[in-house]
Amino acid sequence: MSAPNKNHDPVEVAALAPAAIEAAVDDALAAIAAADSLDELKRLRPAHQGDRSPLALANREIGALPPSAKADAGKRVGQARGRVGQAFADRQTQLEAERDARILVEEAQDVTARVARRPVGRRHPIELMSERIADLFVGMGWEIAEGPEVEAEWFNFDALNFDADHPARQMQDTFYLEPSDGGLVMRTHTSPVQARAMLERGVPIYIAAIGRVFRTDELDATHMPAFHQVEGLAVDEGITMAHLKGTLDRLATELFGEGITTRLRPSYFPFTEPSAEMDLRCFVCRGADADCRTCKGTGWIEWGGCGMVNRNVLTAVGVDADRYTGFAFGMGIDRALMFRTGVSDMRDMIEGDVRFDAQFGMEI
Ligand code: PHE
Repeated sequence: MSAPNKNHDPVEVAALAPAAIEAAVDDALAAIAAADSLDELKRLRPAHQGDRSPLALANREIGALPPSAKADAGKRVGQARGRVGQAFADRQTQLEAERDARILVEEAQDVTARVARRPVGRRHPIELMSERIADLFVGMGWEIAEGPEVEAEWFNFDALNFDADHPARQMQDTFYLEPSDGGLVMRTHTSPVQARAMLERGVPIYIAAIGRVFRTDELDATHMPAFHQVEGLAVDEGITMAHLKGTLDRLATELFGEGITTRLRPSYFPFTEPSAEMDLRCFVCRGADADCRTCKGTGWIEWGGCGMVNRNVLTAVGVDADRYTGFAFGMGIDRALMFRTGVSDMRDMIEGDVRFDAQFGMEI
């Protein structure tokens, strides 16, 4: 900046000459008018409004002028800067408006457009049937009990009165967990929940346990290595086989409707005595077709095992077998679903194809 000089004429200071100021303003206005984006406008600012812009330099020169000249020069530079500032502001407003208008067009959403609907998932029919069974028992005042799928051999077999050399313990039926002498198996039935529940809750007891069980069966149309059972256990004073039959008939009616015919057939399980199998009248041929593929001509479909709780089981879990009696049953849920709906290939149930599930509706 030059030193104050009384004789100094502002018009002669190059930066303050009217033509120079006018030229700086013209330059700025032309550049501003040519800026066609907000970014570009921003980039222009330092050259025309910044500390080193011609008008800022001119402004600085004013300080060096004699007092008589300051007012005039100050007014001219001030007006010039004002015009440039206004031009920036106007252009900024204009470019912002243009940008907003463009965004409104470019980012417009057609709220009436059709959308590709995502297909909804379905609940698996096994799950739906399990819930229905649980609801039935809860409605009768029973409790729901659970046990682990990886089970101690003791609960799966010993507590249930299986001899050490019972064939079901052999490898062809049971998945043993490594190490093979570690005493852990994938439970082969839901019956270990009987022992667990009696130890935990004592008697009298009325429980249903629904869950997955595992056996070393090859997967084919009628066998699965993992399937589902509903276990029932009622132990109280004075329980008889009539209570068992009544309960199972109630369950059958709930699942298959009024008029379903059932029968108990003598059988053997180490943990019940006497023991029985419960069969359902074949829903396809009702016993009238010797070539029926559903029941293989027998007229009956095996549903599960049942019986009066063996006193050895009661004793194993510390229940007084002279005072209490009980019944137990274990029914196949997958079989019930096949029976009820005519699914002929069990593999359809585990493939996870939602089109299979969709046929069973959307019960919740
Ligand atoms: N647990 C037996 C099975 O899986 C069924 C059963 C349960 C039999 C309860 C009697 C009592 O075959």
